[in-house]
Amino acid sequence: MESLRRFSFVSFIALLAYFAFLASAEHHVQQFVIIPTPVKRLCRTHQSITVNGQFPGPTLIVRNGDSLAITVINRARYNISIHWHGIRQLRNPWADGPEYITQCPIRPGQSYTYRFKIEDQEGTLWWHAHSRWLRATVYGALIIYPRLGSPYPFSMPKRDIPILLGEWWDRNPMDVLRQAQFTGAAANVSDAYTINGQPGDLYRCSRAGTIRFPIFPGETVQLRVINAAMNQELFFSVANHQFTVVETDSAYTKPFTTSVIMIGPGQTTNLLLTANQRPGRYYMAARAYNSANAPFDNTTTTAILQYVNAPTRRGRGRGQIAPVFPVLPGFNDTATATAFTNRLRYWKRAPVPQQVDENLFFTVGLGLINCSNPNSPRCQGPNGTRFAASMNNMSFVLPRRNSVMQAYYQGMPGIFTTDFPPVPPVQFDYTGNVSRGLWQPIKGTKAYKLKYKANVQIVLQDTSIVTPENHPMHLHGYQFYVVGSGFGNFNPRTDPARFNLFDPPERNTIGTPPGGWVAIRFVADNPGAWFMHCHIDSHLGWGLAMVFLVENGRGQLQSVQAPPLDLPRC
Ligand code: C2O
Repeated sequence: MESLRRFSFVSFIALLAYFAFLASAEHHVQQFVIIPTPVKRLCRTHQSITVNGQFPGPTLIVRNGDSLAITVINRARYNISIHWHGIRQLRNPWADGPEYITQCPIRPGQSYTYRFKIEDQEGTLWWHAHSRWLRATVYGALIIYPRLGSPYPFSMPKRDIPILLGEWWDRNPMDVLRQAQFTGAAANVSDAYTINGQPGDLYRCSRAGTIRFPIFPGETVQLRVINAAMNQELFFSVANHQFTVVETDSAYTKPFTTSVIMIGPGQTTNLLLTANQRPGRYYMAARAYNSANAPFDNTTTTAILQYVNAPTRRGRGRGQIAPVFPVLPGFNDTATATAFTNRLRYWKRAPVPQQVDENLFFTVGLGLINCSNPNSPRCQGPNGTRFAASMNNMSFVLPRRNSVMQAYYQGMPGIFTTDFPPVPPVQFDYTGNVSRGLWQPIKGTKAYKLKYKANVQIVLQDTSIVTPENHPMHLHGYQFYVVGSGFGNFNPRTDPARFNLFDPPERNTIGTPPGGWVAIRFVADNPGAWFMHCHIDSHLGWGLAMVFLVENGRGQLQSVQAPPLDLPRC
């Protein structure tokens, strides 16, 4: 009797485990309430816009194959939308999130449920508001573990630490934006950078809040570093410790060690770190990599990596010993930034398109709009102008009456045009001394059509107009391979011969070298309207963006799904 009972119990458990395996894909249902919340930083309290009162917002932890239903309820006074940065959203642009591109914003008092599935993706991604400057405080990590039982290509540490690098203004970020939009000048630089929402020891009134990460001697942890800063590429390092880079933008890399990384807004980088130093306290720190000839926030954010057996001071002045500070590169150390980026390789042979159907060449850079009255308070850019930015001289303007995707799907005219140029309208020495006549871009809402499954190559060429600069270019709905890069003007005769078509890194965001170019390739296998833009929010606001319209293929499985019924209307 007893053994029979035991047998049935054991088989019951085995059966349960079997069903759990079959049904291993989970469905995650969550609410994101957008709500103003008092947040005190740098001695002052602001009513920050947050998700569920949390800053940074909640971390989403899912597995490859899972599906999510996130209901965003807007209890703030601003329109908002949420973007799941790096999620491919196959045939489902409706869940992508950029306002006026794939959806109209969620108005105050309204809600929208983002329903999507994780399809063949794993690693570190993140989510953020995609509505004016709300992402300054509305962002969080999105961590995707492999399917149950599917292995990592490296030995995975037991512990995972998300590191969200952010940027803080001692003002309402929406007012900072409004002021810049009025004056036409550059927005005020931030007052602090943050690690997991905290500026750290080097800022006023911030010591008590400094983030501490306890670590056991000998332990290896994985740092999931996310650059959620609005406008700044950052260097990141931990005193006395080396990192092993294992992943960027949710794609595994060939592991390599380094003591510093450069990470652009929108990018993620996973690092293994082993606590192999003397028991103690070590700062992790991030500060600007500033490639432009422009003002920037030159402060440094810190957190503390703290060995659990770190010695404490005895006697008078008892307490914790002062942490060791890391060596960080100089603010304009392009050599270090480039050397780091150039070491990245896909972890195995990559399925890079070897032939190209669409050969695109996009200039990327700033510009200035001349004013009829240069003394106007609205023309406080350089020499009485207004700042602008463009791709192929087209400065992108968000539509207002509808989103690009909805207009495209409904066949509604007058919202956008499909004449985005595949090459610059005028050829010039892009990185040389550009004549003033070429500094003023044309405003418009222009998209470029791609055939389903086309093999696409884009060379992104930085210009020296106003200033050369690293522009972290992000493509929605896709992961692409970074097949080559260099300084100066791209040379179509000689440069392609040096492309890496074997193991180039896969990413969703890549910086143009300042005064240089970068070439990417992908297969246009995801139909819909997909935004491509600089992830520096000031530049995005100035128009450094365009839209790809990827046509449907044949049949339902190659076509955009029907929009959900609750999709917001403009
Ligand atoms: Cu993370 Cu369009 O952005």
